Amino acid sequence: MPKQRLQKIMAAAGVASRRKCEELITDGVVRVNRKTIDELPAFADPETDIITVQGKKIRPAEKVYFLLNKPKGVICTNFDPAGRKKAVDLIDCPRRIFCAGRLDADTTGAIIITNDSDLANRLTHPRYELPKTYEVKIRGRIEGESLEKLKKGVWLAEGKTGRAAVKVIRRTASESFVQLTIRRGLNRQVRRTIAKLGYKVKALKRTKIGNITIKDLPLGTYKKLTKSHINYLKKITHL
Ligand code: URA
Repeated sequence: MPKQRLQKIMAAAGVASRRKCEELITDGVVRVNRKTIDELPAFADPETDIITVQGKKIRPAEKVYFLLNKPKGVICTNFDPAGRKKAVDLIDCPRRIFCAGRLDADTTGAIIITNDSDLANRLTHPRYELPKTYEVKIRGRIEGESLEKLKKGVWLAEGKTGRAAVKVIRRTASESFVQLTIRRGLNRQVRRTIAKLGYKVKALKRTKIGNITIKDLPLGTYKKLTKSHINYLKKITHL
């Protein structure tokens, strides 16, 4: 295995946050193969090097992968000064886990929660163009040119959003219910795209990440991803 930053290995083993682990290193309480390492950057091989913190050997943490059907009002970051409920708090897991990417507090649906930072980075990196499917409830009837623009992509501050697969599920004069599959995943992309077209999102749910779906997973509940799901995500992101 290639060498990794020492603080990353320590954090993955559940010692503390990466920042706190950097402090432990510079405090001089971390040893790699019996040698005290107190300067950054520092690197080690989590498979072969013996790493101790305050004399206690650390073990690489088992990797865990969950799929949560996130309810409204729950946030995807691990730290919130406002003290809102966090997605990681809904998962019964003793390890330091985090969301692979983000859903807005108001968005419901599929979010992967893991302690595998390499996979999480890949899942959120635009280069790998992982398709994500959303169901959007829009105020008003969306049709014609607006639907075409939605399919072709619109210009946002970061550039053009790219093509989207769009399916109108239901439509009345007062609201439209649309399924949208996008690949780029810019911050708040769906809401900003719909706003750019002059409409307002009434509700937003992510139903799929790649081919992994929250069908059969009630809101607020989660499941462990299967080995074949994990392999699929690694394959699709070239990990
Ligand atoms: N796009 C949004 O606007 N919000 C989300 O939560 C996800 C995608």
